[in-house]
Amino acid sequence: MFDTIAARYDRANTVMTGGIDAWWRRQAAASLSLATDAHVLDLCCGTGALTRELVRHVPQGHVTGVDFSSQMLAVARARGGPENIRYEQADVLQLPFPAGSFDAATMAFSMRNVTDIGACLRECARVLKPGGSFVNLEVGKPENPLLRRAFYLYFYGVIPALGGLVGGDRAAYRYLPQSLINFPDARALAGLFKDNGFPHTRCVFLMGGVANMHIGTTPLPSGVTQPALASALS
Ligand SMILES: C[S@@+](CC[C@H](N)C(=O)[O-])C[C@H]1O[C@@H](n2cnc3c(N)ncnc32)[C@H](O)[C@@H]1O
Repeated sequence: MFDTIAARYDRANTVMTGGIDAWWRRQAAASLSLATDAHVLDLCCGTGALTRELVRHVPQGHVTGVDFSSQMLAVARARGGPENIRYEQADVLQLPFPAGSFDAATMAFSMRNVTDIGACLRECARVLKPGGSFVNLEVGKPENPLLRRAFYLYFYGVIPALGGLVGGDRAAYRYLPQSLINFPDARALAGLFKDNGFPHTRCVFLMGGVANMHIGTTPLPSGVTQPALASALS
């Protein structure tokens, strides 16, 4: 499905969110407080919007974007970027990297699409170093009933129509909102993080929970403490 919408994906996002999706990605990249030489993994990178944002934070490091859609990756590569970005085609449930390869990882607007969230989190935790951070940015289910109602009217009513017009594939843009229905709410997702490799996880609501960032950290070896992290994330 993502192969079919790849060419118009970025423009459709900009129109559907009024450009707010770019601001959310900037928040996600900034939330990791990356060292300038960090090695970062962007899971389900798509056309590389977050990948390119991340690389600005790690001028001496590198960022690897992984996605299984060849057409989304083709758009990402065509967008260019500095030399320390690379893209690989792979399934995020079976990453082609040894354990402990990365300092940090990200995922944006994709967790709704993976078939097994627990397996995805465990695979992400595996390739992170001890104490490594992972931020997942995803559309949410606002807790305020009025905001939730307004958001759902837009998300389930307007997005499929706009997606048909701008994204060129109405069926795909009917599926994308539907994928939120069975997706866990913020609290349940935090529980999945804690049970699958990220014992310290916090959630940040964006725009009242229209989008959420879950920021988790892999455990440090026993006896090693990182006071700043422990107090911020517990
Ligand atoms: C909604 S797009 C998000 C792209 C990008 N992260 C962004 O912020 O725009 C979801 C992406 O997840 C990818 N994807 C879904 N499941 C995947 C999996 N199991 N392995 C690799 N990529 C996957 C799709 O190919 C698609 O590019």
